[in-house]
Amino acid sequence: MTRQDESGNGSTGQPPPWAVLTAEEFATCQLEWAADEPPPARRGRPSPPAGERSTAGPAGAPWNIVALGDCRDVLPMVRSESVDTIFADPPYNLQLKKALIRPNQTLVESVDAEWDQFNTFQDYDRFTYQWLQACQRVLKPTGAIWVMGTYHNIYRIGRLLQDLGFWILNEVCWIKTNPMPNFRGSRFTNAHETLIWAKKSETAKGYTFNYQDMKAANGGKQMRSDWVLPICTGKERLRDEHGRKAHPTQKPEGVLERVIAASTQPGQLILDPFAGTGTTAAVAARLHRQWLMIEREPDYVELMRARLSAPLGPPRTPPVRGR
Ligand SMILES: C[S@@+](CC[C@H](N)C(=O)[O-])C[C@H]1O[C@@H](n2cnc3c(N)ncnc32)[C@H](O)[C@@H]1O
Repeated sequence: MTRQDESGNGSTGQPPPWAVLTAEEFATCQLEWAADEPPPARRGRPSPPAGERSTAGPAGAPWNIVALGDCRDVLPMVRSESVDTIFADPPYNLQLKKALIRPNQTLVESVDAEWDQFNTFQDYDRFTYQWLQACQRVLKPTGAIWVMGTYHNIYRIGRLLQDLGFWILNEVCWIKTNPMPNFRGSRFTNAHETLIWAKKSETAKGYTFNYQDMKAANGGKQMRSDWVLPICTGKERLRDEHGRKAHPTQKPEGVLERVIAASTQPGQLILDPFAGTGTTAAVAARLHRQWLMIEREPDYVELMRARLSAPLGPPRTPPVRGR
């Protein structure tokens, strides 16, 4: 287990304390939390170094954690009905068959990673059902889930959400101001992604929607379900030492800011089962929310470690255009 010892908080630009745990360490810490004793007592755990703050969340749970592992293994270790909001940006199942080349013959950095490969739609559906069902268990009755996707996967996810009894509140269309062109000129430019926002069940009451905040952010008009925001570029985009994208699908903080500001309260717990570069955690920390990230690829966990160790920086969201 590696602990980050940061003394400040979001308002000072310093990230709040957090830890990276393996799935096994996460299990231990959850078991200890679930034991009948005043949290955050941690029997059998090494004492934190002097000066380190507890990672205990509002309910005494050890939140602000990156758990390294498959979310289908880690989620069953999370206590039932303990999470306020879930944001999930799962594999798309893009099914890319050949390399994408620009007109100037350069290679497009696309999503060809092993984590995005499924043999059949049925395999993808099985995977999706498993993680969605596990998410539903950990969500509070007042909680809600956001799932983000493209035409490749969002219809399948929408159907499975409904099959599991989630109740869709909105479909949000993120319209990209600077989408990648369609290099072959064979289709329309793919210029949007879809977010589904759903509560736990049809009868669930009490989910958070900061209606007035959203209206104020939209110049006094109701916030609409079409969000016009840029993709992640420039300094926000994490790159390796050769200048290549460190992660193929890093999402813009602007989208996460809107999601978190609209549907959570300060201090609440946000879970991201497909954390990637930790965009959800970075924004949650800046907005003073607690977070729990799950990511199966060690390289991406290292990216998150670097990102979350750096000062949080200013909000990314440009002023909302009144629409
Ligand atoms: C679409 S990306 C998420 C990107 C993220 N929203 C960001 O802004 O960086 C999906 C991520 O899920 C991870 N992943 C795929 N299958 C997983 C699984 N079963 N459990 C946990 N993580 C998984 C991948 O390694 C990848 O980083």
